[in-house]
Amino acid sequence: MTEDLLRIDGLHVGFRSGDAMRSVVRGVDLRIAPGEVVGLVGESGSGKSMTALAIMRLLPPGGAVTSGRISFRGRNLRQCSAGDLNRLRGNQIGMIFQDPLTALNPALSIGRQLTDAIRTHQPLGRRAAMARAEELLQLVGIPYPRQRLLAYPHELSGGMRQRVMIALAVSCNPSLLIADEPTTALDVTVQAQVMDLLDRIRSEIGIAILFISHNLELVAEISTRVTVMYAGRVVESGDVRALFASPRHPYTRQLLRCVPRLDGSRSAMPTIPGLPPTTGALPPGCPFAPRCDLAESRCSAQEPPIRWHEQQMAVCFRADEMVPA
Ligand SMILES: Nc1ncnc2c1ncn2[C@@H]1O[C@H](COP(=O)(O)OP(=O)(O)OP(=O)(O)O)[C@@H](O)[C@H]1O
Ligand SMILES: [Mg+2]
Repeated sequence: MTEDLLRIDGLHVGFRSGDAMRSVVRGVDLRIAPGEVVGLVGESGSGKSMTALAIMRLLPPGGAVTSGRISFRGRNLRQCSAGDLNRLRGNQIGMIFQDPLTALNPALSIGRQLTDAIRTHQPLGRRAAMARAEELLQLVGIPYPRQRLLAYPHELSGGMRQRVMIALAVSCNPSLLIADEPTTALDVTVQAQVMDLLDRIRSEIGIAILFISHNLELVAEISTRVTVMYAGRVVESGDVRALFASPRHPYTRQLLRCVPRLDGSRSAMPTIPGLPPTTGALPPGCPFAPRCDLAESRCSAQEPPIRWHEQQMAVCFRADEMVPA
């Protein structure tokens, strides 16, 4: 077995609310092996982004990791100094977000932003960094890369900006790329191009990817394993094909039922009747019980157990009763 590149154990994240902490991530475990693509799915508010931001210590103000362990190449990130973490960001771990316009500096040319990023982490002169920047634009499929180095973010289309973001994120050859909804703001054609690009980067550079998305079809396309979150918890995880072919948690089943047809709709946001619990402490038992069509009385009284089926785990009393759909 290969050693984990990233390993998260029992991660809890909370937001200060008056004197109390409001939990938004509740005991998440996640592992990514070198070169592996792991999908992270779940409805809006389930804690996907907070999990990703906690890794990089980039939680919004008021947010904090309250317990758990995050290790990267065996190193405990929670004990890293701010300087070490800064070096790790960009150098070892790259990140891309949903909206590249907010992440790119509107006042600086693409070339300047790329060379700044490159030179922060690598001892290259301006010329060498510019050559590397051009190479990166080429890698991410931007036509006329030399000319594009002079362009400003607003001069590029949404898809091109997302490519620039990807170029920035991989500019220092990180071994892990965290991609949080990287295609949500893009139309379907451009989305497919960005997915191809991520897949190509994975196979050419051998980078591991944490791929966060609402879109289960995209997750199925690129990931080897997937983790499903609900109300800040992991409810199911396993090999992506096995899990999507035979989900063992009722929540995953419902999510998969909500996958829209390939009709070009912009948002692939699944909807399940009812709403996830939002504020404060969770009700006792399984957090999904109030919305679950298979819930029994024990589900809202006791914590559901972790049930394993080969490499697939589901946190549900009735996981063993689930048969392939
Ligand atoms: N700045 C903040 N202050 C307080 N609570 C926050 C803040 N940001 C997020 N939260 C809360 O944290 C919870 C998890 O949010 P998170 O952004 O991780 O969800 P998500 O799974 O990424 O959702 P989406 O699919 O919409 O991106 C939500 O209930 C949200 O209300
Ligand atoms: Mg999010």
